Amino acid sequence: MSEPQVITDENVAQAVDAALAAIGAANDSAELRAARTAHTGEASPLARLNGALRSVPNDQKAALGKLVGQARGRVTQALAAREGEVLIAEETARLAAESIDVTAVPTRWRGGARHPISLLMDKMSDIFIGMGWEVAEGPELENEWFNFDAMNFDEDHPARAMQDTFFVEPVDSHLVLRTHTSPVQIRSLLGRELPVYVVAPGRVFRTDELDATHTPVFSQLEAIAIDKGLTMAHLRGTLEHLARSLFGEGAQIRLRPNFFPFTEPSAEMDVWQPNAKGGARWVEWGGCGMVNANVLRAAGIDPDVYQGFAFGVGIERTLQFRNDMNDMRDMVEGDIRFSQQFGMVV
Ligand code: FA5
Ligand code: MG
Repeated sequence: MSEPQVITDENVAQAVDAALAAIGAANDSAELRAARTAHTGEASPLARLNGALRSVPNDQKAALGKLVGQARGRVTQALAAREGEVLIAEETARLAAESIDVTAVPTRWRGGARHPISLLMDKMSDIFIGMGWEVAEGPELENEWFNFDAMNFDEDHPARAMQDTFFVEPVDSHLVLRTHTSPVQIRSLLGRELPVYVVAPGRVFRTDELDATHTPVFSQLEAIAIDKGLTMAHLRGTLEHLARSLFGEGAQIRLRPNFFPFTEPSAEMDVWQPNAKGGARWVEWGGCGMVNANVLRAAGIDPDVYQGFAFGVGIERTLQFRNDMNDMRDMVEGDIRFSQQFGMVV
């Protein structure tokens, strides 16, 4: 127990002043609790003055009792008043912290978008599905036999160097990153009954430099149709339908004689580009031709009974022509803003 204090006006006034100063300085409920304990608790000066009442002479009890009682009353009142203020301040601060500014600009979740090349692959496949064709896929890591041999590229034929190939180690694995989607032609023939009408969209790889119209990783859509009595006219009609579906009714295509080991005759196909950089002109879109008899034989098909056509078009080129993009590099850089401007449609 602390020593009782001598009850004098001065002692009482000092205890009250100290208590009121501490109460006034308390800024939150924790500080106020500390002030309450220090100035009204058992060991506080006021409690000790109160305790001293027990030992004052009887004739002074009433006067000193009133003095101490009033002092304690003032402190209690000051505590209650300050407590009210502190609680209101704390509540106001809490509400301010929790308030929601309904006029604030929200941080939006930015939805991604499928890459326009993927969207266009689907769109092009859909055009063929609409004509009753099937969609097939082949592996990107392809057996050299499917990529070249079955496509009628001789072992030492210079045509093998036509498409600059990424060979895969070990060399005796005979694996390559496919240089075109054409190996899916032979895969489709081997796995199906005739007639066959198949398109195969997919990624292909060549040691090409990245520039405005080339990338080392790009996409093609392959088509192969094998049936009785198919001719170049069917090929041309199919290509025109594809071009008009993609580029509008006024689209024009042109075939130029060319060489591919897997087609005979072969042609390179151009589309008319009214908005090409540097002025309107024909731009190469793909290769095509009547499927070479040797390819049919490699798939066990009698070329005297069945014939057909095949073509392969570049999908990056298609996107360029369709959306007037002069630089293919934008498609491969992976800037999400590029995809976002396409949203969900091409
Ligand atoms: C071929 O790849 C043949 N397989 C096409 C074919 C299929 C012919 C069926 C006959 C029968 P070519 O190498 O020309 O052909 O490529 C076809 C198209 O792919 C080109 O016209 C072009 O649109 C696109 N292309 C070629 N190289 C690139 C590249 N580095 N970047 C972007 N697109 C390319
Ligand atoms: Mg070409």
